[in-house]
Amino acid sequence: MKPTTRPRSPNFSSGPCAKRPGWSVAALEDALIGRSHRAKPGKAKLAEVIDRSRAILGMPEDYRLAIMPASDTGAVEMALWSLLGPRGIDVLAWESFGKGWVSDITKQLKLEDTRVIEADYGRLPDLAQVDFARDVVFTWNGTTSGVRVPHGDWIAPDREGLTICDATSAVFAMPLDWEKLDVVTWSWQKVLGGEAQHGMLALSPRAVARLESHEPAWPMPKLFRMTKGGKLIEGIFKGETINTPSMLAVEDALDALKWAETVGGLDGLIARSQANLGAVAAWVEASPWADFLATDPATRSCTSICLAITDPWFRGLNANRQADAAKAVATHLDLEGVAYDIGAYRDAPPGLRIWGGATVETADIEALMPWLDWAYARVKGSQADAA
Ligand SMILES: Cc1ncc(COP(=O)(O)O)c(C=O)c1O
Repeated sequence: MKPTTRPRSPNFSSGPCAKRPGWSVAALEDALIGRSHRAKPGKAKLAEVIDRSRAILGMPEDYRLAIMPASDTGAVEMALWSLLGPRGIDVLAWESFGKGWVSDITKQLKLEDTRVIEADYGRLPDLAQVDFARDVVFTWNGTTSGVRVPHGDWIAPDREGLTICDATSAVFAMPLDWEKLDVVTWSWQKVLGGEAQHGMLALSPRAVARLESHEPAWPMPKLFRMTKGGKLIEGIFKGETINTPSMLAVEDALDALKWAETVGGLDGLIARSQANLGAVAAWVEASPWADFLATDPATRSCTSICLAITDPWFRGLNANRQADAAKAVATHLDLEGVAYDIGAYRDAPPGLRIWGGATVETADIEALMPWLDWAYARVKGSQADAA
């Protein structure tokens, strides 16, 4: 039976993610466009993004935060290129984005003393293997497998190396253990539903000390340079961006941050995202054909919620037919206009991925669930008939 209730918003993409409830282009009316970002009002807007972000996230006072070019990738690569080299590296990877950082470190920077600690889609690697005398690079939430680290207890408080954390699909939806993280990066278009463009880079005092004491052995593009004459360029962390930012995207980021404050700040955002995970979990519990890709419930992401298809009929298909069937489920939902962009990531096992970040309404997730059953039954019915 075709469900009768539709999600009010069909936007369940894992990035760019749904805009906040009630958003319209009018939210950008005060954008400082056609003006210099170095003029006083421009700098004030950029500084406001930094200040509101710090406040909502409860970042430690002595951490620095900057707006960077090239989204989360820009912020992560800036950190890797600027900080790595003096110590051995442990890099953790359990899905596509973590694997991307492995490739940066081993194939581009060619850092030989690197240990890659890996796991397959659905699992976390063995965190007990990590040696905190080394620099440690990891993703807080693996967006393409829906597996997150459950907390920061596994990170040594008195570590000698730096911890570099790509937190783009975790920040604002999961509590981060700031004292255990020396570098944290994210973009605007994930949990707060901002516009894609810039990255945020947070640095602990120890990360700053590394920047000021270590000169990379490779050439540094202007876009990556955070120091001058061995000293941190403090202005970057006060809104004096390295190059020209989009003031439209800045205005939108401010709108998102102000909305975040109205829903109870960080606690409110986390609660909204957890409620979304809860709505999917209630459905999974009763589902005869789907399960979470994340095997350990403690590691299940509340943002990029990844589902595997466990039905014996589906499992009996070869890899290509599985991929086609899972894609067909997502296509049915797209054509119906009830859910856009919920196919699994291109490198991930075939399945579905539903964004449950804070801008998604739980009522919409609840309304979507019966549609998954409807679409799956249609795909199975037509393909089983054809076989
Ligand atoms: C964990 C993770 N890292 C990095 C990226 C790349 O982010 P961006 O496109 O903001 O550079 C993404 C995008 O989805 C991601 O989920």
